[in-house]
Amino acid sequence: MTIQADATQDNASKSGITPLVAGNWKMNGQRSSITEVMAIRDAILEAQNKPKTDVMICPPATLLMVLAELIDNSVVAFGGQDCHILEKGAHTGDISAAMLKDAGASAIIVGHSERRENHSETDDIVLQKAQAVHNQGLMAIVCIGETKGQRQAGLTIEVVSRQLAASVPEGATAKNTVIAYEPVWAIGTGLVPTLEDVANVHKAIRKALCERFPAQGANMRILYGGSVNPTNAQDLMSVENVNGALVGGASLKATDFLQIIDVYAPSD
Ligand code: 13P
Repeated sequence: MTIQADATQDNASKSGITPLVAGNWKMNGQRSSITEVMAIRDAILEAQNKPKTDVMICPPATLLMVLAELIDNSVVAFGGQDCHILEKGAHTGDISAAMLKDAGASAIIVGHSERRENHSETDDIVLQKAQAVHNQGLMAIVCIGETKGQRQAGLTIEVVSRQLAASVPEGATAKNTVIAYEPVWAIGTGLVPTLEDVANVHKAIRKALCERFPAQGANMRILYGGSVNPTNAQDLMSVENVNGALVGGASLKATDFLQIIDVYAPSD
């Protein structure tokens, strides 16, 4: 699939959906990383051709409050990376959606494959977490995606559809829910699906969302995640039904993340 230079803008403007470029810092980032976020903020504010996209960073919870207090969330918004299903209580080491909201988060990632794998999170747990996010009036970024084995077995659409149906709460709207399609085998590997494959999966997700949420599905954002970098972002973001990116490694450095955000900057 060959992508025209302006196709990203076309894709974004045709859909009428404001794209979202979100950085998931995972277990990375200390006090010294605050300068990276300040550099992102400054570059966005100074850009002549301001990117037509929402920008978000999901730092470790330790940095959330200081970043949210330092940076105007209309320029860079902040999100959590996970939350407990409950609002409070005796759950040592856990953090609730209410606490993340209190610290300045406007969104929370739930169901990331690293949580599903490393913490045995089922679709039902992810559903309850997404519901907890909605209960706080925040936006849930619900992650879904197939493993390498599932892809090789031809089960991608089946797996993604099942996760979508079972992890997204009934009350999902275009405002409170973003879907992130992240093929597990593409995360942190430098591997990405073909653009045709991305298009097919995103089309299936869009269809399922429209069927289940007739009034909202067409406007819900569907992000692609998995080895997005400054080199491949333009092509990936040009694919129909790709409404932005969930970026891991390449969101840690302002220069890389800004280049990804910049695929949504209008050209002269
Ligand atoms: P990478 O961009 O490092 O592959 O990570 C993707 C991801 O898991 C974002 O949530």
